[in-house]
Amino acid sequence: MIPSKPEHAGTVYVETYGCQMNVSDSELMLGKLAAHGYEAVDTPDGADVILVNTCAIRDHAEQRVLGRLGELKRNMKPGAIVGVTGCMAQRLGPKLLDRAKHVSLVIGPDGYRALPALIEAARRGERTIATTFDLEEHYEDFQPRRFDKVKAWIPVQRGCDYRCTYCIVPTTRGPERSRALADVVREVEATVDEGMSEVVLLGQTVNSYHDGRHDFADLVRAVGAVPGVRRLRFTSPHPNDFGDRVIDALSTVDAVCEHVHLPMQSGSTRILKRMLRRYTREGYFDCVARLRAAIPGLALTTDVIVGFPGETDEDFDETLSAVREIGFADGFTFKFSPRDGTPATRMPAELTVPDAVASERLAELVATIRSQSRAANMQQLGQRYEVLVEREARRGGDLVQTRTRDFKTVLIPGDASMLGQYLTVEITGTTGSTFTGRVVRERQPLPMAG
Ligand code: 5AD
Ligand code: SF4
Repeated sequence: MIPSKPEHAGTVYVETYGCQMNVSDSELMLGKLAAHGYEAVDTPDGADVILVNTCAIRDHAEQRVLGRLGELKRNMKPGAIVGVTGCMAQRLGPKLLDRAKHVSLVIGPDGYRALPALIEAARRGERTIATTFDLEEHYEDFQPRRFDKVKAWIPVQRGCDYRCTYCIVPTTRGPERSRALADVVREVEATVDEGMSEVVLLGQTVNSYHDGRHDFADLVRAVGAVPGVRRLRFTSPHPNDFGDRVIDALSTVDAVCEHVHLPMQSGSTRILKRMLRRYTREGYFDCVARLRAAIPGLALTTDVIVGFPGETDEDFDETLSAVREIGFADGFTFKFSPRDGTPATRMPAELTVPDAVASERLAELVATIRSQSRAANMQQLGQRYEVLVEREARRGGDLVQTRTRDFKTVLIPGDASMLGQYLTVEITGTTGSTFTGRVVRERQPLPMAG
């Protein structure tokens, strides 16, 4: 049966904050709304429905959204429906409705199935909060409307069962649950049919994936075996979930790229313990060594928090020395942000690190990571890499942004017609963080099977 085309229900604009999981959720929401007759637009001006898909990980992220909601109120079309979705919606619930009178929908990460009905209710003047967790909800029947034409974000797990003491995610996204392997594989096959050749498996601790029958090793093998998948990435793993089976799968599946984002958070065992990260400095180093032994040419990136309660100068020095010894290709660095309700906020007040000290540490950490990656990047001049053309370069002109398997960004001359192509480039220059290159030899298409 051919489904009848839904009537035009209006235009919808979705603005996304935070992590890739949120990007993926926005793709699901837009897909669901498209199936109900909504047309996606890429500006809030004039949109009938505006959804702000939010992040709660740090106070700064929430403040940005609150500012943005104020701005939208001043500029939106009269009568437009405004909804707040995602982690901040889950965390603040009714407080958001009190605070922003023009918001009529507050929907947490497990509530998107009801979006069309809730928008209808909002049109009748109702204001709704939908923040119940649904441990069965994987949006399996949704057709995501993908923003990216080259790589597909594939959620494989929702929620988190770790309880890192600084982190709000277990509160906002609920307990960990994995999609069935067969459902993930089906989605990957569909994305290949749409012309994509890179997939990124998403989960809060993605390598703890387990659907009751299959673990992350099985998942990596199954996705890597889908014909047409040339690049396979995953984010973010937890160091403790890299068992031998998983590492073995990573080392033997050809599509697995030589890049792992491995959040370290701190290089001090004392602080790691307070963070309830469940590994020591040595344990983290050991994980790095096992990954490097299994995946030649592996690039590592990381997340680090400074200013966690009780962090002394010595603890911070251990973080710096870990960063130096490991030699990360890049790192995301954060000042600790207390989140209401997390155990870190209940630590004794005298452990609080003054903001000025945290800022100083952050600056030193950023400088350390930067100088190290700059030095490593200078060594790349003249090297050749396979790159995938991802998008037109932001700075415009006649450049496209491409990526190596180990996650280096290389700008090369070109235009939108090249998106999705694999090319071989020679690195001709570096700004310190990104590269410029020139095409040296275009890859021949792979021969057809059969
Ligand atoms: N304060 C600062 N950084 C945080 N992160 C998570 N929670 C907090 C917090 N309360 C960081 C961690 C995590 C990344 C996504 O955000 O480094 O890996
Ligand atoms: Fe937060 Fe820790 Fe879970 Fe990551 S593993 S989402 S940092 S609680």
